[in-house]
Amino acid sequence: MALPTINPTTTKAWKKLSDHHEIIKRKHLKELFETNPQRAEQLSISWNDFYVDFSKNRIDNTTMELLLQLAEETKLKEAMTTYFGGETINQTEGRAVMHTALRNSTAQEVLIEEINVIPEVAQVKQKIKTFSEQIINGELKGHTGKAFTDIVNIGIGGSDLGPAMVTEALEFYKNHLNVHFISNVDGDHVHQNLKKLNTETTLFIVVSKSFGTQETLSNAITARNWFIDKVSKDAVGKHFVAVSSNIQKVVDFGIEEDNIFPLWDWVGGRFSLWSAVGLSISISLGYDNFEKLLEGAYQMDVHFKDTPFKENIPVVLALLSIWYNNFFEAESEAIIPYSQYLHRLPAYLQQGIMESNGKSVDRNGDRVDYQTGTIIWGEPGTNAQHAFFQLIHQGTKLIPAEFIGFKKSLFGDQEHQDKLMANFFAQTEALMNGKSKKEVLAELETKNLSQEKIEQLLPFKVFDGNKPTTTLLIDQLTPESLGALIAMYEQRIFVQGIIWNIFSYDQWGVELGKQLADTILNEVDKKELGKHDDSTINLLKYYLS
Ligand code: F6P
Repeated sequence: MALPTINPTTTKAWKKLSDHHEIIKRKHLKELFETNPQRAEQLSISWNDFYVDFSKNRIDNTTMELLLQLAEETKLKEAMTTYFGGETINQTEGRAVMHTALRNSTAQEVLIEEINVIPEVAQVKQKIKTFSEQIINGELKGHTGKAFTDIVNIGIGGSDLGPAMVTEALEFYKNHLNVHFISNVDGDHVHQNLKKLNTETTLFIVVSKSFGTQETLSNAITARNWFIDKVSKDAVGKHFVAVSSNIQKVVDFGIEEDNIFPLWDWVGGRFSLWSAVGLSISISLGYDNFEKLLEGAYQMDVHFKDTPFKENIPVVLALLSIWYNNFFEAESEAIIPYSQYLHRLPAYLQQGIMESNGKSVDRNGDRVDYQTGTIIWGEPGTNAQHAFFQLIHQGTKLIPAEFIGFKKSLFGDQEHQDKLMANFFAQTEALMNGKSKKEVLAELETKNLSQEKIEQLLPFKVFDGNKPTTTLLIDQLTPESLGALIAMYEQRIFVQGIIWNIFSYDQWGVELGKQLADTILNEVDKKELGKHDDSTINLLKYYLS
């Protein structure tokens, strides 16, 4: 069964949501709380160690009912069955989307094109486990017989961001091995990293699903040449392994078949950290922690599959995102984790969300006449408070913000934790309530200022408030809770893609730039410029001069 192809704007719910928006947009969040004493309870979800409070959003119960109706009319439930059923929902690339099979610890059988993929998945997991353990305990050694100390992941996009984000997020659980990430084709990136490394004790993991990505291949070649120059070609086999679905290309590159960790075309790059792409996670955190990460994600998948939409975290958060994007016409969404460990989460989610749902042609092949993919950005709190929060509080743009915080810190410094979380709660409260003229006036009057000065300052100190936030309060940052959090965003991407009637799992948009870069590189090599616009010609001439 193919995915539904319903234009969301033609549904009854859409029309009703448009009318309803005219009412809601005039209401202040404070008023919504005042008129419904049960609001905080009604608009929150408790699940495992997650507490999701979405009551500080510019919605009421009718909004939620209508959004749920939209999900129904666009046949979300049917689409979920098609997705989990292993059908080819990535239609433009002719692939199933089954990264969820990688974390389904209970499955005996997952059929993709009538083939049960579970035995193969189990085999690769066993290979990851064995290899990780042998690297961690020093059984596998470098060319001079020394145990490995440094692991270098060479990849880009989904072959970099996931492992980089997770290893940083779970650094608390990390073992003695140092882990590095080389992604950018900027030579300074690879050379800066190589400078720190010792050939005797470094393991390179070249991660590329296609094994055709310019950045990754260039960096892998540079790293290999560096290694050969210092050691020898014969020793390469002990220091280079690869993760790819293109076995032949890896072999052609010079990595032995035994040293290849396969993945499958039904695992999209930006959803691949659960596969062997997560090898650096498993090595630096230990396989058990990698499994826990997968288990957390699986629990979220079960929640997503089995929970009525009203109580379903990915569904509810996806619907809110649509509400702001399509009815409030919000241009972007901020994601603010109150944990320094989650420093890279917004960057990781930028790929997941923006590469997936940055589409303007619908599933019928027609250009859409409504907004799709949201712009995601963010930084950890409290740093973000001292950077861009001013604009969220008092700027002209509506920016729905998601606050992610943890009840318990990892090092257990309660004094710091209380300060961090006091800020976490205070910001969402301030964004919602703002500060009225009356309140500012009362405050200024205590400051011994002239009436003239008070009147001068007054307009600048007023905060309108009514800025929507969603709070995700999680018990603690663990491999399980991080797995669940990532899977929550993944499922939310799916929901939004279904409702927007777009294909979320291809990324043709990034191809054009790659093709043009190849053409220009060729011309730069030969110093012979081809046909370009005047601006590009001038820039290239300046570069070559
Ligand atoms: O940027 C496009 C993209 O294809 C991403 O989707 C992918 O994660 C990245 O490039 C890297 O691709 P690969 O793993 O094939 O090197």
